[in-house]
Amino acid sequence: MKTIDLKEAYLKFFESKGHKIIPSAPIIPENDPTCLFNTAGMQPLVPYLKGEPHPQGKRLTDVQKCFRTNDLDSIGDTTHHTFFEMLGNWSLGDYFKQESITWSFEFLTKQLNIPIEKLAVTVFKGNKIVPADTESVDIWKSLGVNENKIAFLGEENNWWPNMELLGPCGPDTEIFYWRKESQVPEKFDPEDENWVEIWNNVFMQYNHEEGDKFTPLKNKNVDTGLGVERVTAILEGYTDNYKSSIWKDVIEKIEEISGLSYDDEKYARSMRIIADHIRAIVMISGDEAGIKPSNTDQGYILRRLIRRMIRYAKKLNIDISSNWEQDLAILIINNLKEIKMKY
Ligand code: ALA
Repeated sequence: MKTIDLKEAYLKFFESKGHKIIPSAPIIPENDPTCLFNTAGMQPLVPYLKGEPHPQGKRLTDVQKCFRTNDLDSIGDTTHHTFFEMLGNWSLGDYFKQESITWSFEFLTKQLNIPIEKLAVTVFKGNKIVPADTESVDIWKSLGVNENKIAFLGEENNWWPNMELLGPCGPDTEIFYWRKESQVPEKFDPEDENWVEIWNNVFMQYNHEEGDKFTPLKNKNVDTGLGVERVTAILEGYTDNYKSSIWKDVIEKIEEISGLSYDDEKYARSMRIIADHIRAIVMISGDEAGIKPSNTDQGYILRRLIRRMIRYAKKLNIDISSNWEQDLAILIINNLKEIKMKY
């Protein structure tokens, strides 16, 4: 399944469950000076998660452009990206755990045909604010998920966004996929990196306010996020996101202009960093906010990414006086424009 088909399948599936498809917000937040970038699909929806009525109703779905710098050190591995797309569905005080979990499961197993044996989940083990989430466990079990594939974890893992950040938050249940070809282990070990997190369903019930106060929100909301890049790789049978159709031509172009091979482990990491950064650079530069490289805020991040990309290009002996970055940027634009034209 191509990535455009994954996005369409997701949006149509949630549309069939009564959700309105809304467009992605820009990467640079429009009305939130406290954040440099939208880092998750819920971010542009914060006022509605806090109780303001959304003009499109109580069930929403979209594919949101996201950018995160907190993973910068992980960039260069096979599953992390600075810029990525997040599929999401939201309930603004409408459905809750039962429907959310059931639909996620149905989408993965019936629409994407992912075998149930390859899935595992984590649920919240409880803290001073809410008890252990046995309700989610019961729902997962009723869908056929084996007890061995369910792990209870604490607030470091199963509370979103985390206990420090202010704003809407709550416990979550995360879905993992076994990405190796080898036999799926009998027991789920969330520490085993071959279990990759693909979907997070947050049960957003609190507003974290100054003074460590967790005030119940007006509504019980659902906020979910499914990673487009990871799921595309899974559907195409790769354990390395950069081998999937999202980056295939970009990596091939980097091989061509450097004269080096991605299969050579000595160069793979640098190639992944260039591929990741050019995509983020294109998306930040192309945002309506008109960001240019500078010394401050988003412009500073953009400048850092460009410099870092050039550093790794030099490592690969790419002729940086050529039009190499333009050649790569065109591939990125072509890959992402399909969805932009539709939604
Ligand atoms: N907001 C949640 C996340 O980004 C879904 O993981």
